[in-house]
Amino acid sequence: MVSSKVEDSLNNQILLEGESSQFYLSMASWAENQGYVGTSSFLYRQADEEREHMLKLIKYVNERGGVARIPSISEPPTEFDCLTNVFESLLSHELNITAKINSVVHICLQEQDYTTHNFMQWFVSEQIEEEATARGILDRIKLTGSEKGGLYLFDRDLENLIGGSISVPSAGK
Ligand code: FEO
Repeated sequence: MVSSKVEDSLNNQILLEGESSQFYLSMASWAENQGYVGTSSFLYRQADEEREHMLKLIKYVNERGGVARIPSISEPPTEFDCLTNVFESLLSHELNITAKINSVVHICLQEQDYTTHNFMQWFVSEQIEEEATARGILDRIKLTGSEKGGLYLFDRDLENLIGGSISVPSAGK
């Protein structure tokens, strides 16, 4: 049974993961309209994964005797300056999510809820991976440069690298 404090923090995380999914979806759609095929495929896939994260939390809260709240989600940003701006926003978003996950973990310890603490370790690891992926992608953009030709190569590279050497987290691990 989860305490009301743990339940509230998990419900807040459900909202954040849902918002993450919409944010990725918005970036994916922007990239698609700009003709960045590889980037949009990558971001659509990430949007699905964030939804999986939300579902994982919903199921956990319900299984542990709590009640998962299905949140309404505010509209994400829809305009981005460039690909660098997209991935900088993405990294800063993920850093914020990591801080929120750490707060949930902190509450679990305060409440002596070691079961939820254990469950949350999956999210802790996932965040390490997602931050590393975002940093890796930003490094690649810097290497290829922000000229049109460079960005075209970057985008093609990202398409080829999905599931390749850039570690792209998969859902439901
Ligand atoms: Fe599920 Fe990227 O936070």
